[in-house]
Amino acid sequence: MTIDTETLFAAARDVQTKAHARYSNYRVGAAILDESGCVHVGCNVENASFPETSCAEANAIGAMVSSGAQKIVAIAVVGSMGDRENKALFEKAGDLGACTPCGGCRQRILEFADEATQIMLIGNDGEMQMFSIDELLPAAFRVE
Ligand code: THU
Repeated sequence: MTIDTETLFAAARDVQTKAHARYSNYRVGAAILDESGCVHVGCNVENASFPETSCAEANAIGAMVSSGAQKIVAIAVVGSMGDRENKALFEKAGDLGACTPCGGCRQRILEFADEATQIMLIGNDGEMQMFSIDELLPAAFRVE
């Protein structure tokens, strides 16, 4: 399947604007291309009880599975600070100058990924970076 990276990042950026990030002010959007060519999006949804926050990738995966799809062909993730103050803690968030999926989300992506799944991020320099799940989560816990 051809992956229209521009369209996928546009969907990720669009849903990023809907992030509920009132505590961290760090807004994340994720867009998944599934095996049928459909796109599923999610943003981070924070909570006053911080551990109840759900990540953008987790919500996009939930949307994908709820639609009946089971395979992540590609996932685009974008993250950046909102326009409020409180920039200190998250200003340099993410490895590699990009919003790299957190550990829990790497495990969540693995559940619906294969070796061809493309995990696409945009660095601070605007350059796209691409990873496989094996690169992001080596020696992963899996059951098959
Ligand atoms: N966040 C995500 O949505 N995905 C990640 O992979 C990393 C972190 C969110 C969670 C929280 O709302 C904010 O970014 C700061 O940690």
